[in-house]
Amino acid sequence: MSRRYYIAGNWKMHKTRSEAVELAKALVDGLKDGKHKYLAAPSFTALEAVGAVVKGTNVRLGAQDVAAEEQGAHTGEVSVLMLKDLGVQTIILGHSERRHTYKEDDALVNKKVKLALKHGFEVILCVGETLEERENGQAEVVCESQIIWGLAGVPKDALANVVIAYEPVWAIGTGKTATPDDADAIHAYIRKVVSRLYGADAAENIVIQYGGSVKPENVAQLMSKENIDGALVGGASLKADAFLPIAKFA
Ligand code: PGA
Repeated sequence: MSRRYYIAGNWKMHKTRSEAVELAKALVDGLKDGKHKYLAAPSFTALEAVGAVVKGTNVRLGAQDVAAEEQGAHTGEVSVLMLKDLGVQTIILGHSERRHTYKEDDALVNKKVKLALKHGFEVILCVGETLEERENGQAEVVCESQIIWGLAGVPKDALANVVIAYEPVWAIGTGKTATPDDADAIHAYIRKVVSRLYGADAAENIVIQYGGSVKPENVAQLMSKENIDGALVGGASLKADAFLPIAKFA
């Protein structure tokens, strides 16, 4: 039986609506016969337009973040209710750019995770160490703590809607990729943490994506590793020519 992977594109702060629609159409067309699970996560402003293109296809609609509150006086924020209204299925949370550039801490990420799960979304919880943390031998402990705090209060029956993305911060947008073995080692460790928190069955079933300079050239090697179940792709998700070979890697 061939393994099913989860390949997601995080378009970050790129693409106007028309550009996003063009990419979404190319993905839907190129992935019609794709065997894996797919996600496109455009910016908020393109969600509705991209949603209309991917509706009823094998490409899920994802958002890159959400507010920690349901509604109220939160200028500039976007609520789970609004995302649900647009047909969003998945929300990426705790991305390193949110954690580091916008100073989101584990408590805030946790609040968002719980709110998104409560509203029935799938959540991709991103974790990962900085270069300094890696050099200090803290890669495992940083990921562990981001998982423990990120999932605090999340019951086992909600875990089926949780995906974890291991994204070493030093590998994001830098062209540096963790070696497949290094990534696999952290993924194995993450599985151990999930096992401790939720049991061996949950650890076996949870999908753990790798993210950080995934490209057509390195995807197959990464995905060949036992504990790597998919990819969260940034830069290479912005062009169909790069994302399709990743999504349909052999
Ligand atoms: P990258 O980004 O593929 O451009 O390194 C990955 C991510 O931030 O999700």
